[in-house]
Amino acid sequence: MSEGDAIIRVIDLHKKFFDGANELHVLKGISVEVRRGEMVCVVGPSGVGKSTFLHILGALERPSSGTVLFDGRDLFQMSDDELAEFRSRRIGFVFQFHYLLPEFTALENVALGALIAGVPRDEAFSRAEEMLKRVGLKERMDHKPSQLSGGERQRVAVARALINDPDVLIADEPTGNLDKRTGETVFRLIWELKEATGKTLILATHDPSLAVRGDRIFRMIDGKIEPLSQEEIDAYLPQREVRSKGGG
Ligand SMILES: Nc1ncnc2c1ncn2[C@@H]1O[C@H](COP(=O)(O)OP(=O)(O)OP(=O)(O)O)[C@@H](O)[C@H]1O
Ligand SMILES: [Mg+2]
Repeated sequence: MSEGDAIIRVIDLHKKFFDGANELHVLKGISVEVRRGEMVCVVGPSGVGKSTFLHILGALERPSSGTVLFDGRDLFQMSDDELAEFRSRRIGFVFQFHYLLPEFTALENVALGALIAGVPRDEAFSRAEEMLKRVGLKERMDHKPSQLSGGERQRVAVARALINDPDVLIADEPTGNLDKRTGETVFRLIWELKEATGKTLILATHDPSLAVRGDRIFRMIDGKIEPLSQEEIDAYLPQREVRSKGGG
């Protein structure tokens, strides 16, 4: 890979949590590069550290040691203010739970992300309207989260994540809280937006049928990540085999 290809470069990342006298060493030396425009998936059992890893990539949390270079800039050498500014402009985050503010409408929830980034009010709201149209919620802009379905709430969360046109979208189990079919719709929306805009997508998921659509798939195991082999990817998607047998 040439220098210019990597938008994110992770070098020997460690994360420890401390609970009184107990130390929990979650990330034990992760090194990986993410190329601009690719979709990287992370799978692994519950509690292995996927969210911890994604939170650090998205500058929501600091590592115990190690380096994350974003476009060559060392994230954790930045001050808290610089980091907050970076996070609001360059990274979009979608979580398993939507975290929309209940007292605000869909439109206000989405616009808020732009307002926080310093976008003037009129522009923030017109951008939010545009984003909500793109996620298919033109008719739902004035609804509050409680008036939306789970899938619609996640679509609002996707619109909010993309409002400042970030380079990288980080999605942590974005469909984990949805039924299979709704999850598929939300996933397809994320994927289509990524394809249309050339954004880099980093996705953690329990759902192998989503993970196998990544350009690269990593398994997190014992605090590290390793790429899945093609055989493993095939095994992850038994439907593939069924299809090719059926189509023979
Ligand atoms: N702030 C924290 N303080 C202490 N321990 C934490 C903290 N955040 C996470 N952990 C612990 O770190 C480990 C990894 O958690 P993490 O949420 O990253 O796992 P995960 O792979 O995302 O799991 P899941 O698939 O269930 O979402 C867990 O044992 C968790 O309890
Ligand atoms: Mg998690």
